[in-house]
Amino acid sequence: MAVGGTLLKLEALSKSFGGLRAVNNLSFEVKAGTITSLIGGNGAGKTTAFNLITGNLAPDAGHIAFRDTRIDGLPPHKVARAGIARGFQELRLFNRLSARDNIEVAIPGQRGEGLVRALIGGRGLRKERDATTARSGALLRELMIESQGHALAEQLSYGQQKLLSLGRLLATEAELLLLDEPTSGLSPDMINDFCTRMRALTKVGKTILLIEHNVEIVMQLSDWVVVMHQGTMIAEGKPEDVRNNVTVMHTYLGITS
Ligand SMILES: Nc1ncnc2c1ncn2[C@@H]1O[C@H](COP(=O)(O)OP(=O)(O)OP(=O)(O)O)[C@@H](O)[C@H]1O
Ligand SMILES: [Mg+2]
Repeated sequence: MAVGGTLLKLEALSKSFGGLRAVNNLSFEVKAGTITSLIGGNGAGKTTAFNLITGNLAPDAGHIAFRDTRIDGLPPHKVARAGIARGFQELRLFNRLSARDNIEVAIPGQRGEGLVRALIGGRGLRKERDATTARSGALLRELMIESQGHALAEQLSYGQQKLLSLGRLLATEAELLLLDEPTSGLSPDMINDFCTRMRALTKVGKTILLIEHNVEIVMQLSDWVVVMHQGTMIAEGKPEDVRNNVTVMHTYLGITS
């Protein structure tokens, strides 16, 4: 997708839980090669919007298009295969697998190592295995957790676990990354590192949709900001424009002067 073209488009999306309209007539676009932040207070509907995009929830109404193809109604594995990878607020690592294995299981296109393939697979299987090992090694290096490759995910520090979770997203080769509060719990140094990484990712063809509570990060990092309140979008624009939006200041930033 050419930089600046519309990669993801949400149109009049709604989702209710019982009487609660968690997402209410939500429309916005994510342009290819940009970082778009989805912000709003607790319960604004941000994670629900992610769940609708990824197919974890079906919308009650509205459409979602990715690269001009409808994806609403598709199951999560098909949305993932289309090129959308999603990180969770809780990291969802395989705690009892090594860091390297956590990445390798996320690499697509592996045909598995069934008994028959093991018997007759021969060179093809070995080549595939080597490619997987090379790819996971490169990602571990890139994330600077190479020395932890053999450690169990649960033995990593929280910051390293966050990086590993990012590594699992990158392993999918998805073009669009949905990140749900990726900086929560990180030290200032790690937050800086994260911001640098996000920018670098857009330079290599990734597009990022970010749920982020840290206003400074939103202001620094985003090309576009979408502000949600009680399920609806109350403002969108460039960071400097959204910061100046009075409604936003009152409802989200908590600034009343
Ligand atoms: N599966 C569900 N069943 C019932 N209600 C839900 C469900 N998921 C979310 N909700 C409700 O929908 C509303 C929006 O929740 P959501 O998790 O999307 O908010 P959020 O913007 O991600 O908030 P936070 O910043 O706290 O993560 C909340 O009132 C929440 O309690
Ligand atoms: Mg949430």
